[in-house]
Amino acid sequence: MLGEFTYCNPTRLYFGKESLSGLRQELSKYGPTVLLCYGGGSIKKNGIYDQVTTILRDCGKTIVEDAGVMPNPTVQKLYEGCRLAKDNKVDLILAVGGGSVCDYAKAVSVSTYCESDPWEKYYLHMEDVDNEIIPVGCVLTMVGTGSEMNGGAVITNHEQKLKIGHVFGDNVFPKFSILNPEFTYTLPPYQMVAGIYDIFNHITEQYFSGEDDNTSDYLSEGLMRSLIHASRIAVKHPTDYEARSNIMWTATWALNTLIAKGKSTDWMVHMIGQSIGAYTDATHGMTLSAISMPYYRFIFPYGLQKFKRYAVNVWDVNPAGKTDAEIAAEGLDRMETWMKEIGLVMNSKALGVTEEMLDGIAKGSFIMEGGYKTLTHAEIVEILKDSMK
Ligand code: NZQ
Ligand code: ZN
Repeated sequence: MLGEFTYCNPTRLYFGKESLSGLRQELSKYGPTVLLCYGGGSIKKNGIYDQVTTILRDCGKTIVEDAGVMPNPTVQKLYEGCRLAKDNKVDLILAVGGGSVCDYAKAVSVSTYCESDPWEKYYLHMEDVDNEIIPVGCVLTMVGTGSEMNGGAVITNHEQKLKIGHVFGDNVFPKFSILNPEFTYTLPPYQMVAGIYDIFNHITEQYFSGEDDNTSDYLSEGLMRSLIHASRIAVKHPTDYEARSNIMWTATWALNTLIAKGKSTDWMVHMIGQSIGAYTDATHGMTLSAISMPYYRFIFPYGLQKFKRYAVNVWDVNPAGKTDAEIAAEGLDRMETWMKEIGLVMNSKALGVTEEMLDGIAKGSFIMEGGYKTLTHAEIVEILKDSMK
């Protein structure tokens, strides 16, 4: 295991059917005013809003509502949230929703008392936080991003055609997160499978890097196997508690910093996917699925031994009598079959990508150097073209 690191994850999790009761315990630790952030209304339809606000009122909290956090939250919405948080001097930000709401809550948390423009400071210049941070708690309703136990906060600037994630340190992680798998039952199938692929891709982004024997890779393989198994059940039986709970738990561990330990990590699928998102506002997980096969088929020769291991350990490819390249390719074929089986978008045209956008999407894709091949601009354009075939 290579690398020098420290490990600390300060988020307290409450998991299971009764986990919302943990909210009462947590609320006692914070002052009286709570900024309640949520999305476009799903929590009102499925009753989670009522359950949460009842607890907030029982605990004597003043609720400041911050509704309408959109999928892929925008910088304009962030400014609005900061004004609300500041004007009301909120003591806690409670995010009730998916990754977008949790990310947004973290962005408001670090931006409210920021003296300069938070978009420039945190997103364009990637500076650290040096001002007051408002504590955040999450009640998760959509599974995928891992935002419930990490420091990620992705914000979209449509004017600048940029979608950028800042990964903040553990002082910005949610103080607590409530994970009730039943809260995810009402997710539309499209969102559920997008989330499943987001989880899967978080794992591969970390797994496909490095050459050393690393405990993180064994953990990753176990998480992928669990996810593949549970996903096949969940698409057929969306209210299968066992499957949905395993998916929820896998999502958290896929991106809460653990499996990145000792890894250089790749993240190029996410960088290209986020840039597609900046142009199309498409669902995050689907931007990843649409470019994954072109990307992995392009880079696998550069990381052949790992792709071979992936084929055997994750996809049960029988290596007997095959070359390393054949084994690796068969693993990717099985991955593609699974992706189609669960109903992922496999073509970026379906997300609204056009030929005219390709150069801009490639320019907006931050080039990372931790994977098996550092991409050039021209290679990103080729991968994007492949994703439209
Ligand atoms: O807005 P509402 O009405 O709540 O509807 C949402 C939204 O339309 C709906 N939904 C959520 N829970 C539901 C539900 N509908 C019915 N029943 C429920 N229980 O689902 C839609 C999508 O929600 P969203 O929060 O946007 O999805 P997701 O969790 O995938 O979050 C996506 C955002 O997270 C960022 C993405 O870039 C994107 O902006 N990411 C954050 C990361 C992080 N913090 O580390 C990493 C990820 O790679 C990702 O980039
Ligand atoms: Zn993601």
